[in-house]
Amino acid sequence: VSGAKNAALPILAAGLLATEGTSKFYNVPKLSDIKTISMLFESLGVKVDYKPEENTLEMDATKPLLTEASFEFVSKMRASVLGPMLAREGSAKVAMPGGCSIGSRPIDQHLKGFEALGATIIQDAGFVEARAEKELEGSTIFFDFPSVGGTQNVIMASCLAKGKTTIVNAAQEPEIEDMINFLIKMGAKISGKGTSILEIEGVEKLVGAEYTIMSDRVEAATYMIAAAATKGDVLIKGAPYKDNVALVSKMREMGVNIEIVDEDTMRVSNKLDMLKPVDVKTLPHPGFLTDMQSIMSVLTLLAKGTSTITETVFENRFMHVKELNKMGAIIATSGKEARIAGVRKLSGAEVNATDLRAGAALVLAGLVAEGTTTIGNIYHIDRGYNDFVGKMKSLGANIERIEEIMAYEMS
Ligand code: EPZ
Repeated sequence: VSGAKNAALPILAAGLLATEGTSKFYNVPKLSDIKTISMLFESLGVKVDYKPEENTLEMDATKPLLTEASFEFVSKMRASVLGPMLAREGSAKVAMPGGCSIGSRPIDQHLKGFEALGATIIQDAGFVEARAEKELEGSTIFFDFPSVGGTQNVIMASCLAKGKTTIVNAAQEPEIEDMINFLIKMGAKISGKGTSILEIEGVEKLVGAEYTIMSDRVEAATYMIAAAATKGDVLIKGAPYKDNVALVSKMREMGVNIEIVDEDTMRVSNKLDMLKPVDVKTLPHPGFLTDMQSIMSVLTLLAKGTSTITETVFENRFMHVKELNKMGAIIATSGKEARIAGVRKLSGAEVNATDLRAGAALVLAGLVAEGTTTIGNIYHIDRGYNDFVGKMKSLGANIERIEEIMAYEMS
């Protein structure tokens, strides 16, 4: 399993806070989103040396940063750069962030946090600007919802603020802990890691550091579910159980064998022709991760009986359903709920990836379907899966990449 996109993006953004020293990152995945953020940083005046084949990235952000992040880069991915830019330079103007179209994805909680620290927010056509007339000052911020990006952005903004910031109802995802670990290595003072209340004591400066990005728990989940769906037996390295407890519990409920080999390795196998149906509800961590629900829905198609998936985090994350139904699935959605009939047999079809995780779900469906499945819009998959085709092939999948140019090379 490669390094985590959703940890790498905020950790690289945190690297913008270093006014002294360079940072070097290891286990950086080869993904188009990492290429995009590198190009964004270069446009701000940061020196970046991204070596995707070596999975390393070095950056030197010590020169003053430009304060405007262009639409060209920010619209292609979702990274929290407003917070660190504001903290560093006292003002920042950023195009509204992109990423997967899985809902309206407002950033009101991020902005509320910046305002509490003393910034003024100006929102205009497609842009948001944050300005601090004087030094940012620590404050108490309550999130209405534990937003992952909001928590990351406000932590970064408050690291250099005067005094103490308390974030109440903070998101607790492992990717946030990973970012906090890096910030602490840079000299930040943060307590409450992994809980819903974080305290950040502002420091004078942060210094570049070396850091190894955590493994991608969604990529691990994808191979775990692929192993179970194809009745395989796969040893997955870079898959810590502690980061995927909800998934392991739900897969075990269905009858899948999961052995925790060591703190970093799992072995997933399945011999059952008929898995048990299951009910899954997505929630903020430690609940079932929303990024895994489309992939999990493929496994529930192979169960005997009806499963339900309730999506509570994003309002538009069932776009894969129409595509799976083209392959013989019987999935009915109503509001936040999808009811999935265990059809136990799928047929190959021409389908389209509608977002990153939906794309992975279609690959898994294609692996279990009879006949050939052709998947379009695979640039979505290139945003988040390092060498998906190569790794699947090494497990015995019959899969070819038809679109030869990776989104990575096009960007
Ligand atoms: C991060 O998105 C991830 N992206 C997503 O992964 C992931 O699905 C999500 O967290 C939840 O785990 C990255 O880390 C780059 P949120 P983020 O702020 O930060 C609402 C993938 O597949 N909300 O926790 O955007 C929002 O609309 C991607 O890799 C507000 O209303 O997630 C959504 O309904 C997709 N106001 C919910 O909260 C705000 O100010 C969760 O969003 C912020 C969020």
